[in-house]
Amino acid sequence: MAALDRNSVVAIIGSGAMGAGIAQVAAASGHTVMLYDTRAEAVHKAIADIAKVYAKLAEKGRMTAADADAAIARLRAAPALGDVAGAALVVEAIIENLDVKRALFADLEGVVGDGCILATNTSSISVTAIAAKLRRPQRLVGMHFFNPVPLMALVEVISGLATDAAAAQTVFDTAAAWGKNPVHAKSTPGFIVNRVARPYYAEGLRLLNERAADPATIDAVMREAGGFRMGPFELMDLIGHDVNHSVTQSVFSAYYNDPRFTPSVIQQELVNAGFLGRKSGRGFYAYGEGAETPRP
Ligand code: NAI
Repeated sequence: MAALDRNSVVAIIGSGAMGAGIAQVAAASGHTVMLYDTRAEAVHKAIADIAKVYAKLAEKGRMTAADADAAIARLRAAPALGDVAGAALVVEAIIENLDVKRALFADLEGVVGDGCILATNTSSISVTAIAAKLRRPQRLVGMHFFNPVPLMALVEVISGLATDAAAAQTVFDTAAAWGKNPVHAKSTPGFIVNRVARPYYAEGLRLLNERAADPATIDAVMREAGGFRMGPFELMDLIGHDVNHSVTQSVFSAYYNDPRFTPSVIQQELVNAGFLGRKSGRGFYAYGEGAETPRP
């Protein structure tokens, strides 16, 4: 088994936070990267943002200016889905919705060549279910990156029931060639990280619900005494309550409403209010200028 050849083209579908991060890493590793999004402006923003990051890395001496220029030149906008036809690997990072992902992969099957591996960055949907409607479900592999992609080393390589072991191994080896630390896992709800982390958030939220302590106290205890890099509330604020809550809902329903995974009403209210965490300026804490941080 071997990683994808560095001269082969990688296509990224969905150019939001995750797609841009994956594109940045793939282009820095030598691939020509085609970016597609239903919103053309998302592609242009992603390419402009990545170019700024490369320029900063060159400024700091962590990349040569020539390497930065070459990596920027390898990023290409794909105006239409058909433009990714030459890709050896397609990584999907669109919205977290099974029907939308299935429809996209069905379209992709009509575009890419037989040898192309299809990967999904889903954080909570069954890889088996996404693959089920494909003509060749064996070529679909979960390639689950973590946010922010350029900084987070872990990649979960997920095999669904139909996934071909060789395709999963190529994705694994490719992630390693991109400087990541991949692990293999089977398609189970939440995979490894989103499963193991659920009780961390859930117990923090239960403590808050029972008025045992405020978020700042619980976070400080977990950081200072527990040795965690972040407490559950600051971590949920970083991930985004919309994303975190919907993963909990998905795991809860996948395990037939097992009470261990019951979603939190407190978190639901934050989502209802649009207090999504860092990205919206407020979650359990307030962020931005003038905010007395932390402010639970
Ligand atoms: P985002 O909302 O920042 O970006 C999604 C992009 O996909 C948007 O630009 C949107 O226009 C585009 N899009 C939507 N439907 C499309 C379609 N049918 N075809 C092409 N483009 C389409 O979302 P984000 O955070 O980048 O997440 C993307 C995926 O990655 C989701 O499946 C999410 O669960 C997963 N993920 C997210 C993580 C996170 O921390 N944000 C971590 C790991 C996985």
